[in-house]
This record gives sequence, structure tokens and C-alpha cells, in this order.
Amino acid sequence: MKIGPLTINNRLTLAPMEEHTNFPFRLLMKQSGAGLVVTERVDAADVARRDRRAMRLLYTQTAESPRAGQISGADPTVMAEAARVVAELGFNLVDLNFECPIRRLMSRGEGGALMQSPEKIGQIVAAVVTAVSIPVTLKIRTGPDAAQETAVEVTQRAEDAGAAAVSVHARSVQQAYVGGPDWSVLQRVKQATCIPVIGNGGIRTAEDVPQMLETTGVDAVAIGRGCLGNPWIFRQARGLLNGSSRPPAATLAERGRALVQLIEGEFHIYGPPLALRRLPRMSGYFAQALPEGAAFRAAVREVKNFAQFKRLAKEWFG
Ligand SMILES: Cc1cc2nc3c(=O)[nH]c(=O)nc-3n(C[C@H](O)[C@H](O)[C@H](O)COP(=O)(O)O)c2cc1C
Repeated sequence: MKIGPLTINNRLTLAPMEEHTNFPFRLLMKQSGAGLVVTERVDAADVARRDRRAMRLLYTQTAESPRAGQISGADPTVMAEAARVVAELGFNLVDLNFECPIRRLMSRGEGGALMQSPEKIGQIVAAVVTAVSIPVTLKIRTGPDAAQETAVEVTQRAEDAGAAAVSVHARSVQQAYVGGPDWSVLQRVKQATCIPVIGNGGIRTAEDVPQMLETTGVDAVAIGRGCLGNPWIFRQARGLLNGSSRPPAATLAERGRALVQLIEGEFHIYGPPLALRRLPRMSGYFAQALPEGAAFRAAVREVKNFAQFKRLAKEWFG
């Protein structure tokens, strides 16, 4: 797939997830076969003023290239300035979030609230495209609610304004994460635009990937919750798309090594206090593969440093 001048070497991308898709997480997904990875959403106003927390959320290294930095906001000038910062940090793409359903953003007319206003999205995209030389992409939903499907109009406005690709989460903003995705919207968006369309929503197994590609015609898929504790979904889906048989599920030892790599990255980059706070949740995803996951999770809560965690993981995963 090509996004503007950028070549993405397969049809699998990582969906952005707040408090999850940080640098160590993205690197692990890239090593497992994701062709493109994306940061979590960061407020454009914070990025524009180079707020410390925002810069931490946008921490990146070239090892994870190609990668996108995602920003949200409604003011074209602020979004343009934030996009300049994203480009300066080395990201290959800037992704604009017009899909987040959380109340704080919605009440400010940002994120998913903008799915009501295709014209406004066009203006924001145009301002950002003018400001940066890297490709500009956007992440949208089907529309504000089941009764209003604005995805096609939003995509066409964004394409006219110079967007290089669109990711469509096949749920409405009102749905948030509840209820099944409606993949038929992906097909309608694909048929209405010339820019690459990345389909998203409901990929839980590697087999879901060829199914979404075949039934909707989208150019690529974005995997969100399906890769939590299971980075191998990318490797398996890649195998299926290459026509080979499904690569075997990861062994317990492989799972343990992946978890240790992820946690080591968090300790190294963000420091022990933050890494320790995140440890139970991150380990919890991988513990699902353990016969006595609950006991492992309880032991993780007692961990005080990385060396201790590494020993514990070795004991449990082998
Ligand atoms: C915990 C969590 C955090 C998310 N954060 C973001 C975000 O920061 N930006 C964004 O565009 N989408 C975000 N999403 C939405 C996902 O990118 C994706 O669209 C959604 O989970 C549907 O895909 P899935 O069914 O494969 O999980 C988030 C989803 C989850 C579950």
C-alpha cells in the first residue's frame, strides 16, 4: 500500500489506542509484522506548546518506521502547528483524530464531535496539509450515530483537501465501543474515494483480516484490541495473506519474551514509577495465555523493579 509517497510493506496496521500504543508497544507490533504503527491520540494544543507529557507520548525512534503521530483538535491553526511538531519529531505521517467518543473531547467540539461537520474536517485537513510536507491521514467513524452516516462525505472532503489516506472505524461515535461494527460502511467509503482506505473494527483473529479485505475491498486493516497480549496476530495474518498456512500460535516462552521486551522498554524509556504503574495491566493481557493467570497477576502486583519482574516472567513463561 502507498500513502502519498510512502510505501507500507503490507496491509496490516496497528490501530491507535490511548495508554497502550506507546513506543515499546509499537516496536513489538512492528517486529511481529505490522506494516504501519500509530501513536495514541495526543491533544494538539499540548503538542503545539510542546508540553512535557505530550512529548513523552510522542516519543519515537526510527526503528519503528514507518510510523504516524496522532493528534486531535478542532482549531485548524493549532492542528497545523501540532502537525509541524509531529513532523519535526520524525514521524512519517500525521494522523488526525475525528473519532474519539470521550465526553471531554466531544464537549469541546473535538474528536468524534467533528463527524457532524464534514466541512469543518475539510478545513482542518487543508490547514494541516499546507503546514507539513509529510502525508496527512485521518481516522474517522461511520458517523455521529446510526441515523447519520457521514463517513463518505467526510472522506471526500478530506480527499479534496489533500488527505493521503483514511482509517475508518466501522462504528458510530454514539456506539463508542459497544455493539458490532458495520463493515458495509467500509465498502461504501472505499467505492467513493481514490485514497487508500484502512478498515477497522472487530478484527479478533488472523482469519478476520482476509475476510475484511475480501468483503469490503479496503486497502488495509487496522488491528486494535485483537493484538493486546497477542502481537502474533500480525504474523499469522501476514501468513494468511501470503497464501501460506497460518503460522503456529506463539509458544509460552515466546509470549514471555515479548512481555519482558515490552516491560523492559517501558522501564528504560519512561522510568520505574510509570512502568510499575502500567505493569499489572500490560502483564494482564499476556497472562491470558497462562493456565493460572490470576496467580501470575497477583505476583506481578508485588513486583518492585524490572529485575524482579524478569525473574517472575521466566518462572511463569519459561
Ligand atoms: C483502550 C482504547 C484506546 C483507544 N484510543 C484511541 C486513540 O487514542 N485514537 C484513536 O483514533 N482510536 C483509539 N481507539 C480506537 C481504536 O483505534 C479502534 O478504532 C477500536 O478499538 C476498534 O478497533 P478494534 O475492534 O480492532 O479494537 C482506542 C480503543 C481502545 C480500546
